[in-house]
Amino acid sequence: MNNDIISLKGVTKEFRQGATIIHALKDITWNLSNTGKMVAVVGPSGSGKTTFLNLVGALDVPTSGQVIVDGTNIADLTERELTKYRREKVGFVFQNYNLIPNLSVLENIMLPMEFARTPKREALARALGFLGDVNLEHRQKQKPPTLSGGEQQRVAIARSLANDPDIILADEPTGNLDSQTGAEIIGLLKGLAHSKNKTVIIITHDEGIVKIADEHFMLRNSKLTEV
Ligand SMILES: Nc1ncnc2c1ncn2[C@@H]1O[C@H](COP(=O)(O)OP(=O)(O)OP(=O)(O)O)[C@@H](O)[C@H]1O
Ligand SMILES: [Mg+2]
Repeated sequence: MNNDIISLKGVTKEFRQGATIIHALKDITWNLSNTGKMVAVVGPSGSGKTTFLNLVGALDVPTSGQVIVDGTNIADLTERELTKYRREKVGFVFQNYNLIPNLSVLENIMLPMEFARTPKREALARALGFLGDVNLEHRQKQKPPTLSGGEQQRVAIARSLANDPDIILADEPTGNLDSQTGAEIIGLLKGLAHSKNKTVIIITHDEGIVKIADEHFMLRNSKLTEV
């Protein structure tokens, strides 16, 4: 019985740019068996961190090898199942927050539930709960551009929880924040990993974050190894 939440088997990802082939990831074999942990992945620029996260999030497909999440090979999913996977199995948090500026905080958090056809009353109640999880109930009616960077990232984290994903994927979520605010965001993500049993994978350059994480990996020279 395989209990891995995420497992990569011989994963290679190449990008073709005219006549050149860029090897973003080469024959990566890796697995993560513990859920409810915050996992940090570090590595030099261009080492393939974003590519790795995109493969786990099913935003991209490997050139060869398998990405298996919770026992399912992502390559076996139909288009319809892929959409459901991206919407419900994983939640995304981005460096630039990616909130919709003309929707309120509450509407931003409700949007993924709307896509998943959650009844509106239920979506509203859940969204208010997630706002509480990130301590932003008092900002619910505001539009994202009126919030600080740290507050916007908290909204984005609340939104990532919307459809109760098992996995949260965060690509440099503190990249635009000062170190104090960044540390608060990371503390929040770690608390959610533990209290809601989410697997949180954070790509980061920040040594401070790496120290706070429960597990640490380094992507370098096409190897993803525990550090
Ligand atoms: N769509 C693409 N087309 C061509 N090359 C790409 C594409 N996406 C990524 N690459 C290349 O693949 C390699 C890995 O890129 P990736 O974005 O995964 O690195 P990264 O570790 O996230 O870097 P950074 O720390 O700068 O964000 C780089 O050489 C990059 O130029
Ligand atoms: Mg990147």
